Parts: sequence; structure tokens; C-alpha cells
Amino acid sequence: SATKVTKICCIGAGYVGGPTCAVIALKCPHIKVTIVDLNQARIDAWNSPEFKLPIYEPGLEDVVRQARGRNLFFTTEVDKGIQEADLIFVSVNTPTKKSGVGAGFAADLNYVELATRRIAAVANSSKIVVEKSTVPCRTAESMRTILEANSKPNCRFDILSNPEFLAEGTAISDLFKPDRVLIGSLQTAEGKAACNALASVYANWVPTERILTVGLWSSELSKLAANAMLAQRISSINALSAICEATGANIDEVAHAVGFDSRVGPKFLRASVGFGGSCFQKDILNLVYLSESLHLPEVAEYWKQVVVMNEYQKRRFSKTVVDTLFNTITGKRIAVLGFAFKADTGDTRESPAITLIRDFQSEKALVNIYDPQVEQDQIWADLAEASPATPLASIQKQVSICDSALAACKNAEAVVIATEWKEFREIDWEEVYRGMNKPAFVFDGRLLVDAEKLRNIGFKVTTIGRGE
Ligand code: NAD
Ligand code: UGA
Repeated sequence: SATKVTKICCIGAGYVGGPTCAVIALKCPHIKVTIVDLNQARIDAWNSPEFKLPIYEPGLEDVVRQARGRNLFFTTEVDKGIQEADLIFVSVNTPTKKSGVGAGFAADLNYVELATRRIAAVANSSKIVVEKSTVPCRTAESMRTILEANSKPNCRFDILSNPEFLAEGTAISDLFKPDRVLIGSLQTAEGKAACNALASVYANWVPTERILTVGLWSSELSKLAANAMLAQRISSINALSAICEATGANIDEVAHAVGFDSRVGPKFLRASVGFGGSCFQKDILNLVYLSESLHLPEVAEYWKQVVVMNEYQKRRFSKTVVDTLFNTITGKRIAVLGFAFKADTGDTRESPAITLIRDFQSEKALVNIYDPQVEQDQIWADLAEASPATPLASIQKQVSICDSALAACKNAEAVVIATEWKEFREIDWEEVYRGMNKPAFVFDGRLLVDAEKLRNIGFKVTTIGRGE
């Protein structure tokens, strides 16, 4: 029986559920899309009359403006959303567990389970339930058991895995033109029919050759594998950046030369102060935990090194700052440009800037922060969480948040570039130089600025992966 999807509900109005289902609504005007969340403030922001949306993502506002109120709705009425829909995306958060079995590694599946139980409790017709969240391999099995054990007569549930590959900052263009859409299903007649129903939703704008259909477990594992291999590229290039600094080789040239091999490819080889974001570390730890539970300790150890190298890169960078500033930064003012984990987002989850600033704080430096998108409250919340033993009031004696890059650099000894915001390339560096204490240092953690140009102004420049 070929189900035709006409009503979609998405549980979770976050970075993934919001943009993904807004784009589905835009591209499928014949489908009613309702995005539900328990968080009232988040839903209110999605419904904001001035379009002050809860997340910053280029192009998102335009999509929401076109579809909201037409066939795209945001609400906290979770049960009603579930009841109306024939297809439900579960797009809730799956953070790393903080306590209990697997603490620090395993994914916390509590939100997925609560959402699944809610579906089972309130559904009064058959549903296709789609795992959109990133989950450990075989989670769909647990979801199916919960749904089947709690369903009413005449309600059947088909479970699909449809992981999301969008990157923040480019979410809308990634969703408009995905490299691929991946759908995993049981290889039964019902499983394949459900898979076709979801595939035909995407087929409204994604070329069918880019819609890949595989088994459920392959789909779940492919998501963890994709993030692990992407993060591994960054840790590999960052490991090489340390060798460059020690030898005088230039990481840009090395990455270019290596990436020119079509088997390697040029993308995602940018050395940095370390990767951040809510997913890379979480998903690798998840894979490490999975490997350990499958009694594959060598495999676990292998993937763990990607995270170990990332921690090393962050620590190495803050140590370079201290070493270069004559082995002490006590009482010195350091301007940190960028707080988001990457450019074009206001998201700060696992941002390397947080670790750097915490290191500078523990060296008793004074820190000025500027980021074009991140809200002040978010910065204070992140810094407080990073130093749980320090009262916020004492953090605020050491750290200030500034309105512009120029203001942050005023009277500073050093500028640290932590996020690759384009506007940092266009700063008036002559004016920055005039306002700083001398010698004036720049530490480029993102290969962003033209080091030669800055040296000609008078700066002492240290760039990641360059041993000048
Ligand atoms: P998020 O925290 O931004 O959003 C999750 C939302 O789910 C929250 O608003 C929360 O209130 C809501 N929620 C939780 N439990 C609920 C329930 N029972 N009922 C209703 N609402 C509930 O998280 P996110 O960044 O959107 O990530 C969601 C999932 O997608 C994660 O598994 C993540 O690994 C994965 N993912 C994220 C990205 C990304 O770029 N952020 C990309 C691909 C995949
Ligand atoms: C990443 C993946 O790219 C997405 O495909 C995936 O869907 C997503 O994780 C997820 O599962 O959450 P995201 O974390 O949003 O997306 O952003 P990326 O562009 O991957 O950047 C991650 C981090 O790596 C950032 O801190 C970025 O600055 C850093 N990075 C990226 C580098 O240091 N060097 C690079 O060459 C690329």
C-alpha cells in the first residue's frame, strides 16, 4: 500500500528540525508541515511577527517568510501534531550522557524515547516514524519495540532512519541541494513502501539519483561514519599543522598539494584551532562507545584519537599564545575575535573559543570578546559552564564582551582569531594597530588574515600551521 504523505509533524524545533522541515514545507506546498516542541520560548520565536527566529542561518528567514502560515506551522501542541500527521520526524536532541552508564561517551537517548512513547500514547492512526536525530546503530529497533508494545488496534508504525547531513551556516543551501538524502528501512514490503513514501517527499526537489535507500542499520551507522570521517580529516590536517610549525613547512601549501589528489579532494582540509559544534565530538564518542560495547577496543581506540588530537590542538594553541607573550599573560588584555564554533552561525556548542578563553582566564589574563552573532547571555552561560567553580561575578571581572572588533582590540596586547567570520578579514588593521599596546601580537587560529600585510603594519603574527 503506497502511503501518500500529506501531513508531516516534526518533533523538535531546533537547528535540524526547524530548517529541515521549513524547507520541506517550502518545496512541497501540498503537504501540511507542523513543527512541535515543548519549549514555548523557542516556538514563540519561530512564530515571531518580526521573524526574530531562534536560530541564525543565512536564507532561513526567507524560507520561513514564504511558508509560515501557508503550510508551515510551529506549535507546542505536540499531541495534536502527532495525531494529525501521517509521517513524523523525530528531531530531538541526543547529547552525550553526563552521568550513569556510558557517561561522557554514550548518547543520551532519553529525549528520543520520550518522543517515541508520546507517539505511541496518542496516535490513533498508522504512522511512518522517521528517526532524524543522530543515534547509535540499532536505535530504530528500540523505537519499534516501544511503539509496538504500546500501540492501539489498527495502528501500525513503520520506522525509517533519515539522518541529516546539513552543516550549520550553510543549512539552507545544503537542504536545497543536498549531496545525498539517505533513507534506511527494514527490507520488508511495508518497510520499502514507507521508504518510498518518504523518498517521494524529497523527490519534489531532490534528483532521484541523489536519494539513497539502504537498510536501517546501515543508515544509522552511515551518519556516525560520515561525521567521524569528516572530523578525522580535520584532526589529520591539524596534526600536520603541528609538524609545519616545527619545520617551517606551510599547512596551506601542504593541504593544497595533498588535496589536489582527486582521491583525497580539496575540501575540509583547513587547519584550525580545533573543530567545534554540537556533533563531531558527540558522534565520535558515540561511535567509540558503540565499538567498546561491541568488544572492539582497537576500533574504539582508533576513533578516540580524533577527539584526543582535537583537544591537543586547542591546548597547543593557547600554549603558543602564552609562550609567545614572553611566558606570561597575567594581567594582559587579550582580544578574542569570534565566539561561535564556525562562521555564519550564532551556535556556540563545543566552540573552541570557550576552551581558549577558559585557558586565558586560568592564566589570569583579561579577555575582551567580540562575535557578530552570539548573544551576550549565551557567552556568559558558556563561560560559567566551562568554569563551574568560579562565580559568574568573578568571571565578569576578567572578561568583557565588546560591540565591535575594534573595541575589543583597544589597549590589548594580543588579538586571537577564533572564528573565521568574513568581517575579521576586512577589519581596519592599521587602526587596530594604533589602538593596541606594543609589541602588538596577532594569533590567527583560522588561517584568515594576510600575515604579510599585518607584519608590514608592524604586528607580530603567529598563524596556525606556519613555522615562519
Ligand atoms: P536542538 O537542541 O537544537 O533541538 C532539539 C529540540 O527538541 C529542542 O528544541 C527540544 O526542546 C526539543 N525536544 C526534546 N525533547 C522533546 C520532546 N519529547 N517533545 C518535543 N520536543 C522535544 O538539537 P539539534 O541541533 O536540532 O539536533 C537534533 C538532532 O539532530 C541531534 O541528534 C543531532 O545530533 C542531529 N543533527 C544535528 C545537526 C546540527 O547541525 N545541529 C546536523 C545533523 C544532525
Ligand atoms: C557537521 C557536518 O559537516 C555535517 O555534515 C553534519 O550534518 C553536522 O556536523 C552534524 O551532524 O551536526 P557542522 O558541525 O554544522 O556540520 O559544521 P562543519 O562545517 O562541519 O564544521 C565543524 C567544525 O569543524 C567547525 O568548528 C569548523 O570550523 C571546523 N572545520 C571545518 C575546520 O576546522 N576545518 C575544516 O576544514 C572544516
